Amino acid sequence: MGARLAEARAAFEAGEPLDLAELSRILVGRMVTQLLGLPVDASRGDAADLEIFATGERLASIALGTTADTELPPHKIALARDIVEQLTAHIDAVFPDAHPDTVIGRCRELGLSLRETKGLSTLLMVAGTETAASAMARMAAVLYDSGEVDRLLAHPEHREDAVREALRVTSPAPLIGRSVLADVEVAGRTLRAGERVMVLTWTANNVAGAFRIDRPYLPHNRQLWFGAGRHLCLGGPLARAELAAMLEMLLGDGRGFRVVSRRYGRRVLIPAYASLVVQKV
Ligand code: HEM
Repeated sequence: MGARLAEARAAFEAGEPLDLAELSRILVGRMVTQLLGLPVDASRGDAADLEIFATGERLASIALGTTADTELPPHKIALARDIVEQLTAHIDAVFPDAHPDTVIGRCRELGLSLRETKGLSTLLMVAGTETAASAMARMAAVLYDSGEVDRLLAHPEHREDAVREALRVTSPAPLIGRSVLADVEVAGRTLRAGERVMVLTWTANNVAGAFRIDRPYLPHNRQLWFGAGRHLCLGGPLARAELAAMLEMLLGDGRGFRVVSRRYGRRVLIPAYASLVVQKV
């Protein structure tokens, strides 16, 4: 991602407008290509990255309208299988020899089967693309909208706090579904075994208040924007690194930026900007 970010930064610092929503899609497309060793024609540049992102988006969108049940209808399963095949077909050939320092090689060394490795690769693709791209552009928007850009320029020591706060107030995965395994009492209500519940993570995370770069870590919140328990986000450190790199690109020269125009994504699983154009001030 570094080279593409450096290229964007040079143009941005020279005063050109920059669509952060699109740049984020390109960056995470590139990240997932690297992570899974996808065979992509690098000479196609951004177009190849955007295509990978769009494939992940198509796969994730199959989950739209399925929150009430974990059983997917056959036509959705068939659609998903096609996309997964497209994304993981290359793994058959590389699985036996992939270097142990790659995701696929490490899966093999840990004793995962080819099928499990393809499953994990698919999960990384679905879980790590739209969420991270959403957070990158929305972090910039929330910094600008809250007026906190100038404070962050004056106090760069709060960069890490700003990343955490951006994750908290945006909570790109705004709700998480769970099945109740055994009857349990929560806040005076009995949840019965077999019921489905939705955990409203965005709502819970935002109780603490508005975005503030100097808000301290809230121990009771833990990092609920990354989930909790056995399914805690596997990509949390990567997501934080991506956001930190985005902040460096935006503010690294010590000057602020403004939002020139924005367009919201519609009918998406993860709330995100379709376009967010920013420019140096
Ligand atoms: C800002 C970015 C991200 C957010 C807000 C986020 C959020 C979450 C949340 C809430 C969960 C838990 C879902 C549940 O319990 O049902 C989760 C799981 C997961 N995330 Fe992330 N995620 C982000 C980025 C990433 C990245 C970059 C990757 C990897 C490339 C990733 C990989 C995963 C995986 C593999 C799981 C499933 C873990 C399991 O089920 O054991 N995530 N994520």
